[in-house]
Amino acid sequence: MKKFLTRKGILVLLLSFILFLAACGSTEETTKEEPAAEDNTEQTDEGNEEAITEGETEEEGSGEAGDKLVIGFSQVGAESEWRTANTKSIQDAIKEAGHELKFSDGQQKQENQIKAIRSFITQKVDAIVFSPVVETGFETVMQEAKDAGIPIFLADRAVDAEDDSLWVTFLGSDFVEEGRKAGQWLIDEMADQEGPINIVELQGTVGSAPAIDRKEGFEEIIGSDDKFEIIKSQTGDFTRAKGKEVMEAFLKSDGENIDVLYAHNDDMAIGAIQAIEEYGLKPAEDITIIGVDAVKGAFEAMADGKMNVTIECNPLFGPQLVDLIEQHFAGVELEKRIAVEESMYTMDQAAELLPTREY
Ligand code: AHR
Repeated sequence: MKKFLTRKGILVLLLSFILFLAACGSTEETTKEEPAAEDNTEQTDEGNEEAITEGETEEEGSGEAGDKLVIGFSQVGAESEWRTANTKSIQDAIKEAGHELKFSDGQQKQENQIKAIRSFITQKVDAIVFSPVVETGFETVMQEAKDAGIPIFLADRAVDAEDDSLWVTFLGSDFVEEGRKAGQWLIDEMADQEGPINIVELQGTVGSAPAIDRKEGFEEIIGSDDKFEIIKSQTGDFTRAKGKEVMEAFLKSDGENIDVLYAHNDDMAIGAIQAIEEYGLKPAEDITIIGVDAVKGAFEAMADGKMNVTIECNPLFGPQLVDLIEQHFAGVELEKRIAVEESMYTMDQAAELLPTREY
């Protein structure tokens, strides 16, 4: 019995040992695999997060085009019809793409825009869309954004800065070209007219890219014919009220001598038209009126025979801008300068095109 039990015992012990080893093996595998799998997942997640954060810090755009972004948008203000349309286009495009928008209206003041950008940096937004009221004086705050790893997308207006690594790309109109178009239209229109042809100019905001460039482009073209002379040039700050006020002053000093008004935007031209009518002259007949933007108000004035021409400056680039931001976060290298395509419209096209105008 003792002998049998011993053999049986040995057999049982052996079997138990084999079973025990098998059980140990599978437990070991489970123990090894499970935590390992968990660790990998955590590391991958953290790795991705770190990579995205690092990528942003180095402005490499390592996010995905489909990621939800938080976008801070520092707009110039609400000074014109054009600006209202531009603000809406950008806001709508950001929201429609599913991104979060933080909006700030700079009220045409540089200090407000600097504050807004600093606040976007503190809030750690993913990207900043910035339309600078003036060309200079933004380098420090743009450098702060760069140091914080937040890419800046210049929209509509450029900055005059040496270091172009401060922004990813600049999407906007070619303002010099707009000025040239205005000048060329005038040269063609007045080809048979003898000089002197006296021009008064309503400039945009002092120091702003469109005011500087539209003046430059216009002067470049009319400078080729000395029958044209700019007899007065002053800022109307891109607003109707200021355009009217400054035109009143021009009329007071030069009245009947004024042949042409070149306004850097339609709002100032529309304000000036009121001043001309109140003064007792006929806009577009006694004084040729040139505006820029091609807003609805200009089409209405042209359809009423009160304005001669408007050079298009297209504000509806919100979807294109958002597309560029997404491309950047998908790692696409963008051109530093991307121009918006535009045209020019005259009085005789106004009535037909007015119903189709989107802004
Ligand atoms: O920067 C674009 C210009 O700014 C538009 O021509 C003008 O209307 C606006 O205020």
